Amino acid sequence: MVSCLGLLLGLLTSFSGGSALPRCASRGTCSDRNPVVVIPGDLGNQLEAKLDKPSVVHYICYKKTSDYFTLWLNLELLVPVAIDCWIDNMRLIYNHTTRSTDAPPGVDIRVPGFGGTETVEYLDPSKRSVGMYFFPIVQGLVNDGYVRGDDIRAAPYDWRKAPNENKDYFQDLRHMIEGMADKAGRPVVLVAHSMGNMYTLYFLNQQSQQWKDQYIKAFVALGPPWAGVAKTLKVVATGDNNRIPVISPLKIRMQQRTAVSTVWLFPYAHTWPASKVLVETPQANYTVRDFQRFFLDLDFEDGWEMWQDTEKLVSDLKAPGVEVHCLYGSGVPTAESFRYTTFPDTEPTVVYGDGDGTVNLLSAVQCKRWVDQQKQPVHLLDLHGNEHVGMLLNQTTVAYIKSILSSP
Ligand SMILES: *[C@@H]1O[C@H](CO)[C@@H](O)[C@H](O)[C@H]1NC(C)=O
Ligand SMILES: *[C@@H]1O[C@H](CO)[C@@H](O)[C@H](O)[C@H]1NC(C)=O
Ligand SMILES: *[C@@H]1O[C@H](CO)[C@@H](O)[C@H](O)[C@H]1NC(C)=O
Repeated sequence: MVSCLGLLLGLLTSFSGGSALPRCASRGTCSDRNPVVVIPGDLGNQLEAKLDKPSVVHYICYKKTSDYFTLWLNLELLVPVAIDCWIDNMRLIYNHTTRSTDAPPGVDIRVPGFGGTETVEYLDPSKRSVGMYFFPIVQGLVNDGYVRGDDIRAAPYDWRKAPNENKDYFQDLRHMIEGMADKAGRPVVLVAHSMGNMYTLYFLNQQSQQWKDQYIKAFVALGPPWAGVAKTLKVVATGDNNRIPVISPLKIRMQQRTAVSTVWLFPYAHTWPASKVLVETPQANYTVRDFQRFFLDLDFEDGWEMWQDTEKLVSDLKAPGVEVHCLYGSGVPTAESFRYTTFPDTEPTVVYGDGDGTVNLLSAVQCKRWVDQQKQPVHLLDLHGNEHVGMLLNQTTVAYIKSILSSP
């Protein structure tokens, strides 16, 4: 262990800008490690539900439960028939007056595990490897001395929603970061994946530069969709079963359309060329400028409202004002546009481009804009051959994160 004094000197050197320093907790000793906070992506942490519903969609569905149960991820709930119950619990209802979403009557959803890491390491509490997510990164750090729930913690959230509906979350995140930095006497490294990067950017954009200088050492962005993801158009139009064949895409579309965050990740006009046809149907060609018509033609006009509510949250891609390490997969065929013969109820022909299988490369590399827009360093690392979730399970990624943590 490095002494507090040595650490302080180290910090003084790295913060030559003269910013204030996190202090060690009064009775504790300084740590020789930067604390880590993990911010997961869309579908990237567990959700629990408790039911007391006026009605159900099928007689096999539970109407009332005595306690919370795992709604995501529990594969047993995604099999035929049971999935109808699941969809009816998972969906959100958009309210035009409040411009926000609510759970259906009698459905109480909560996000378990804020501050721990359990609910992001495996999505499925039974720890089947199919749901493995942040486990290799967390375990890799624990092998180096990190302690789960102490100096490595996660900030799960209700990923069905965009930041405009998760205001308390950002308060909780800020308090957790401050507490961890103060305890360790060192600033925190944020490690986000996928949509978690958009959440993290939104969060950092809300903080003062002084706060960021004091509390954040670096932001590690894994698979970031800075300019959205082309696939979201198909998800909203036709549904997406994530290659789980027992699920009918059209059935799950019902739930997927109600998740505001999917619409938030529509391709952004700041990056996609206005001439690029993203969806082609016999009746129309849709580009980033045609979303209003797209939603209208889908008979999903709430979607247009959701888009207007959320598009501006990070659409200026304001530099985060902290050191950034942008790591993204490439070389994996990634849906770039869709051709429909019958729109929208039949599967389209997919045109593939470069990316990580989910996030288009064009979107992931937009962190390069910040190189000239902030004084803190911005590093880009192309993890060629890495798939969107696969990159979290790759020891190359784990080693890179460790190298950031051990840098002065
Ligand atoms: C929408 O929210 C308003 C204000 O909270 C409420 O009065 C109204 O009943 C809600 N509408 C629906 C359809 O739930
Ligand atoms: C869509 O664009 C293609 C060329 O990219 C064109 O051949 C087609 O006629 C267009 N369809 C409509 C309905 O405008
Ligand atoms: C792990 O990452 C390295 C470096 O990007 C890459 O060469 C390798 O193919 C990846 N392995 C897997 C299984 O994705």
